[in-house]
Amino acid sequence: MRFILRLAPVLLFAVIFSCQPSEEQTEITSPNGQLKVLFHLQKGIPYYSVTYRGETFIADSRLGFELKDQPALTGDFKLVSVNQSVANQTWTQPWGEQNEIQNSYEASTIALEEKSGSKRKLNIEFRVFNDGIGFRYEFPKQEALTQFIITNELTEFALAKKFTAWWIPAYLKEGDIEMDSEFLFRKDSVQALQEVVHTPLTMQSGDSLYISIHEAALMDYAAMALSHTQDQTLKADLVPWANGNLVEAVAPLKTPWRTIQVATQPGDLITSYLILNLNEPNQLADVSWVTPGKYNGMWWGMHMQAYTWHQGPKHGATTKNVKDLIDFASTHKLSGVLVEGWNDGWQGNWPVDGDFNFTQAYSDYDLPQLANYAKSRNVGLIAHHETGGNISNYETQMEDAFKLLQQHNIHSLKTGYVNKRPAGEYHHSQFMVRHYQKVLETAARYQVMLDVHEPVKDTGLRRTFPNMMTREGGRGTEYEAWSIGNPPSHTTTLPFTRGLAGPFDYTPGIFNLQFDATQKFKVHTTLAKQLALYVVIYSPLYMAADLPKYYEGQPAFKFIEDVPTDWETTRVLNAAIGEYITTIRKDRHSNDWYLGSITNEEPREFNIELDFLTPEKKYKAEIYMDGAGAHFSTNPLPVEIIVTEVDATTVLPIKLSAGGGTAIRFYEMN
Ligand code: NOJ
Repeated sequence: MRFILRLAPVLLFAVIFSCQPSEEQTEITSPNGQLKVLFHLQKGIPYYSVTYRGETFIADSRLGFELKDQPALTGDFKLVSVNQSVANQTWTQPWGEQNEIQNSYEASTIALEEKSGSKRKLNIEFRVFNDGIGFRYEFPKQEALTQFIITNELTEFALAKKFTAWWIPAYLKEGDIEMDSEFLFRKDSVQALQEVVHTPLTMQSGDSLYISIHEAALMDYAAMALSHTQDQTLKADLVPWANGNLVEAVAPLKTPWRTIQVATQPGDLITSYLILNLNEPNQLADVSWVTPGKYNGMWWGMHMQAYTWHQGPKHGATTKNVKDLIDFASTHKLSGVLVEGWNDGWQGNWPVDGDFNFTQAYSDYDLPQLANYAKSRNVGLIAHHETGGNISNYETQMEDAFKLLQQHNIHSLKTGYVNKRPAGEYHHSQFMVRHYQKVLETAARYQVMLDVHEPVKDTGLRRTFPNMMTREGGRGTEYEAWSIGNPPSHTTTLPFTRGLAGPFDYTPGIFNLQFDATQKFKVHTTLAKQLALYVVIYSPLYMAADLPKYYEGQPAFKFIEDVPTDWETTRVLNAAIGEYITTIRKDRHSNDWYLGSITNEEPREFNIELDFLTPEKKYKAEIYMDGAGAHFSTNPLPVEIIVTEVDATTVLPIKLSAGGGTAIRFYEMN
């Protein structure tokens, strides 16, 4: 069996055949026949449309490009050939939310050539899966198009139905600071969208059609945002370089995949692995050094201003403090300790200036001693490179910085790009996409796993580079420390929006929820919901974010100790975007199942059918539920811990308070 599983990735049944199209159109159908893409040329302009279960939901949508100093590549095409193929493959993730992933699709690569002029060529490749479609452009090697600048990608998504979208703006700045995806989601009809929005853009039409537009395998290209051009039409809006160019291209070139995931229930968007399927297989040979896990640190204390990043009386990253954190991690089944503020360059002002030194530790932080101590306690240090957005400063030091990690046996790194950007480069431009990729590949050479804050959005590169563990790229827990915070509906929206892109280092686990005596700042969940977030929002590296003293003597901390970060399988039992979600996941290394259920401001009750448990087996359920009177705003702390015996026939009632949640561990009894 194990032998067969190991062979699975190469069992790709692909049939490739080429045909001369009789008309200037072609159709591609998903393996189950429910999704269809129709491609056609109209007066030489390429268009595609999509139907699901017989109904059109993407009407004729334009494809093509405008290029600098040459005619647009869109309006004078003839269809040269269509190469069709099918694939049916299973592959295994080295770590993840799902162990085995099915990759089945029907594909067509459509070769176009201009009828006149220099007869430039452009290919468009479509893959149609049961859970959505992906398409990308290919600029083949050709004399008439070698080096060029893309000034406009014309790709459209002309929605044929009325959709409501959950969106965040793509470009909003505060002063000269780019806010980089760290917004609360807003809900509007597509027709009402006035700003350029980020992807994944998740939308709902009626009660049974959910779609999400995003992209896969973003490398050496600009990230795609979406602008609302007319009525229900969205259009690719590539994030520019500071000089206004969109993409500096050299043929041959394949663009990232433009993706549309489709589902009849919102939870099925979460368990769609289309984005990963459209990425290339693992390119790093041995990834045994890539290990999911949980970590702690002084991070939350810094955001609450109990500690500082810079050296001084409240300096967080001292040898003594980090030693204590290592002890705590070692005792409580956490595999890592994140150390921010360890290196020279922090100035005490915010946002940071960006003149960091990535090899010079502060004098009160003894890196060699701590690296040895961590090793002796079976804990890994997680290093921190805050760049302040000063890319050239970082890139000049990068090789030495990674050598230092290697020297001290450090295999995890959090990077940061706090938004000071005098040069005006966006986080999502080709300039930055190149930078993030350079860091990722350098990290892989030094066997370092990455947690990127202020990142480019996730497009599934973890399949190709499994050291790309997790990232921010959304409004995380830190906003609860110093802003109006994250209302309860934020976390019931995230799994369907930002979460579709990939793992999110949301940093839950705050127990001291009302940390500010004035109540100006507080965490907008109950304590039980903090636990449930570990199951609902996926990340392979997850922080137990509160300070250790708030975990001492708390029975509920056992859930954080127990909850895995590497899963065999994931299912969503019930969900309404922005309202509630119940997710179950099975541990990859035992027969345990975990459940997380969270709600927005509304209290709720659910009866959970436990038919996912192995039949005939008895399980012990450790249930962490909102206690009597719990409420996210007025009384967040009560947690009721109930231990009871269940099996696959049990229907388990759970209750969630306003802004609350339930977390359950089911472990098989012998
Ligand atoms: C912002 C990051 O999101 C946060 O996690 C980090 O602590 C600070 N930057 C400092 O690097």
